[in-house]
Amino acid sequence: MSEVSNSRFPATGLLRYHSATFLLALMEWRHMVTVRAPATSANLGSGFDVFGVALSRPADIVRVSKADRTTIDVTGAGAQYIPEDPEKNTVGAVAKELDAPAHIEIDKGVRPASGLGSSAASAAAAAVALNDLYDRGYTRSELVPVAAEGEAVVSGDAHDDNVAPAIMGGFTIATDDGVTKIDAEVPLVACLPDIVVSTRDARRVVPDGTRVSQLVETVGNAATLTAGMHRDDPELVGQGMYDSVVTPARAKLIDGYDTVREAAFDAGATGVTISGAGPTVIAACTDHDRRAVGIAMLDAFDDRGVDAQVYQTRIGRGATVFED
Ligand code: HSE
Repeated sequence: MSEVSNSRFPATGLLRYHSATFLLALMEWRHMVTVRAPATSANLGSGFDVFGVALSRPADIVRVSKADRTTIDVTGAGAQYIPEDPEKNTVGAVAKELDAPAHIEIDKGVRPASGLGSSAASAAAAAVALNDLYDRGYTRSELVPVAAEGEAVVSGDAHDDNVAPAIMGGFTIATDDGVTKIDAEVPLVACLPDIVVSTRDARRVVPDGTRVSQLVETVGNAATLTAGMHRDDPELVGQGMYDSVVTPARAKLIDGYDTVREAAFDAGATGVTISGAGPTVIAACTDHDRRAVGIAMLDAFDDRGVDAQVYQTRIGRGATVFED
């Protein structure tokens, strides 16, 4: 009898210990949220400051935990160029907007100044994570302007064309009246050269005005691209990516742009343009041609003596909360 009670006592103690550890882990888990937010490509040629797509890769991973004041740790691609001061970092501004102080860890998969919505990916991930952590109850579309304010800290202006797809996924049309989303399935190749183009510089070269003939052409291309997204049709999407207003002015900032564009078309691309403010060059194509297009773009940059990396990607989902 005494043997039994002696063996039961430590077992009960062990059970209490494990329950307490489990509860502590549960409390810790409830105070930590991890979100993956994708790279994005804005403009798509004819949709300057309006169109954007979420890319299936690369992506940023952001983890937030409650704290009395906001602190930031940055690791990953280009981390050395990203300030950890909450006043200067895009996620610090998001935490302020949501009144949600936190320790925020950012693992960068999207290189800054790439034209792939690097700051938007971090801002979108932080907005979704902090909204969840603090039960703020914002919908995904309500989080778009919150994340855009964060992005403005680095780009100087609040644009929704990157944060909208980073939060909502798919192809997005962001206007002053809100965001319209189309779930599209189109293969893409994003070729990122080892060149830095800042958004501020790329905005300075945008022409002040345009001719009516170019306006008509742009409306036609934007409508064609939107129809292509509805139909998951790489031909129409590629055709609609043509732009004769902003892209030629910005192409001068990207060493080898014309050669890379031509090489991509020769390899089967249906459309080629600058991703966001550059320097990434983005091509639409069929699944069949995607690999050949990527190799052709890399080779063309290489011929110009420019190192580059290629992402075989496609239109993908928006920010995703990890179930730990
Ligand atoms: N639409 C913007 C631009 C993207 O091309 O300047 C960067 O926010």
